[in-house]
Amino acid sequence: MQIKIHEIGNPSLRNYLLETPEGWIALDTGYPGGFANYRKRLERHTPISSIRYVFLTHTHNDHTGFLKELLEQTRAQLVVNEASLPRLAAGVNVMPDGIVYTSRGARLLARATRHASFPPVSPDETAIIIKSAEDQPFLALGLPIRVLHLPGHTADSIGLYLEETGEILCGDAAANFFLAPARHAILIEDTTAFGASWDAMLALHPARVYPSHGNPFPAEDLLKYRHYLDHAKVFVRKS
Ligand SMILES: [Fe+2]
Repeated sequence: MQIKIHEIGNPSLRNYLLETPEGWIALDTGYPGGFANYRKRLERHTPISSIRYVFLTHTHNDHTGFLKELLEQTRAQLVVNEASLPRLAAGVNVMPDGIVYTSRGARLLARATRHASFPPVSPDETAIIIKSAEDQPFLALGLPIRVLHLPGHTADSIGLYLEETGEILCGDAAANFFLAPARHAILIEDTTAFGASWDAMLALHPARVYPSHGNPFPAEDLLKYRHYLDHAKVFVRKS
């Protein structure tokens, strides 16, 4: 079964779409105010009405900025981690104590968005709430798409694993962004969990990783850079 990955964003913020026999799945959105532009880019590929699911990788304003509008315009079902719900309802980026930044530049950028807000979202009755690894709505539809729990960047981070091609769409559980070395995200709420999520991805022997920030990269990079996560001194603490 062919699941086709489309990308309609830009190198610093990707907007992936999965074309499947059960309809299109949109991953995340973008910054607040970006909906009209997103819609224009989307409709070069498919009518907006063909989006059946919106899969949210985690709750930061660059991913949730026009989630409310996208859901209203498409009547798509939101697929969301249960742990995202309080953050989604609050409509503001959460930066818990203990957070680390992976470079000084990353800290500057992340601190600038510390209290950034987005229109809050209260999932309706059609939403699919992911509560555990057993909750696999796409597998249940017969699609070879597994939901992965990838906490660390945020407590609510999840991603998708395309079982037939070994491709992982990881949200911000890894990145390929100039401000963050070694495929790390610019900020990490929990470095131990972040490393464990890389271990979970590696255990799948994936072929390729599609981060939300930067270009896709070979999964070997996770193995190559995994040890950085055991040396917290490379990180810039919150201050
Ligand atoms: Fe993020």
